[in-house]
Amino acid sequence: MADADLIDDLPDDKAGRYAALADLLTAILDGEPNRIARLATAVSLLTSAFAPRFFWTGFYLVDPDDPHQLVVGPYQGTLGCLRIQLGRGVCGTAAASGTTVVVPDVHAFPGHIACDSRSKSEIVVPLIDDNGLLVGVLDVDSTELDAFDATDQAGLERLCAVLCSRAIDSSESVPPPGT
Ligand code: SME
Repeated sequence: MADADLIDDLPDDKAGRYAALADLLTAILDGEPNRIARLATAVSLLTSAFAPRFFWTGFYLVDPDDPHQLVVGPYQGTLGCLRIQLGRGVCGTAAASGTTVVVPDVHAFPGHIACDSRSKSEIVVPLIDDNGLLVGVLDVDSTELDAFDATDQAGLERLCAVLCSRAIDSSESVPPPGT
């Protein structure tokens, strides 16, 4: 997890915390194009900044060998499922539509994939690179119902934009289905 001092210095209010995290991530990742390094760093910061509300935080990435599947990437939390078909579950729905999906109650979402029965709500944000290609999705789960609001959506979308900006390696991206 991220350095405790870095996290202690973040603002307490949620919007301010996301804004500071975006700046921090931009500074830490400056000049680093490697995708895994960028995503793993973001997971560490997010997990530390929003514990314990963020129960599972991680990425599912387009499988370069089968672009109709997402395969698990860097994450922190309990064991995640390895692969998700595009269009399946919350992650696959966000990936296929290219838009953020907020689920206040996962049990009310048809086709939700339960990797850990303690997850009760989640938000999934697509990662789209500078060329408009789908990289994967950021998935955050909570053990609380209705844990994610518009501030979380805006903050996480901003962080995903930071992650996809600049020299990220695009060799494993695909056009989002339907575009
Ligand atoms: N809940 C997700 C599956 C991934 S895990 O929760 C880590 C979904 O339905 O897409």
